[in-house]
Amino acid sequence: MTSNSTIAPAQITVEFKQAMRRLASTVTIISTADANGNRHGMTATAVNSIAADPPSLLICVNHSASIHTPLTQRGRFCVNVLTTQHEELVAAFSGKLKGDARFEVGEWRNEGCGMPYLHDAQCNLFCDVDTVVPYGTHSIVIGRVSAVLVGEGVCPLVYADGGLRSTQPLCAVD
Ligand SMILES: Cc1cc2nc3c(=O)[nH]c(=O)nc-3n(C[C@H](O)[C@H](O)[C@H](O)COP(=O)(O)O)c2cc1C
Repeated sequence: MTSNSTIAPAQITVEFKQAMRRLASTVTIISTADANGNRHGMTATAVNSIAADPPSLLICVNHSASIHTPLTQRGRFCVNVLTTQHEELVAAFSGKLKGDARFEVGEWRNEGCGMPYLHDAQCNLFCDVDTVVPYGTHSIVIGRVSAVLVGEGVCPLVYADGGLRSTQPLCAVD
């Protein structure tokens, strides 16, 4: 183990990436629709709860991602939390398909305001953009949660050690 204060910048990047491979995250698809009704979506694991009062979460979106401008301009998005049944969506929404064609994979529906959401996700969190904080290559987008749909069961599709990992239905540790 090395101390952060003594290692070279290039090395800390390598070690940071190694460490992040051990930070298991549930895979989500962030979705939005622009003012013309065009749908945009992106696979994302950088999603975190902030607080319950007010209900809020954050997502981190690369400035270069195709969803970045439509999401920040529209000011509204949905976090769709994937199950182990959604493996095919991960590749489709991270580059294999482009634009609206991504939404041909999976059971997508439209919420009242035309926001696309994944019908059989573990849950859908509809958010209004509260704050966008630029940080390096990414924007940290803080979303105020305005509506939630929660499905049955907890069977998250997990990303860890550089790949997708299946899980069994989760149960409490004794
Ligand atoms: C498992 C996984 C997690 C990802 N998480 C994020 C994320 O949290 N934020 C982000 O900006 N990109 C993330 N990406 C990368 C984007 O999905 C991908 O670069 C993006 O969809 C491609 O941009 P495009 O829409 O311009 O094709 C992730 C990719 C994968 C496979």
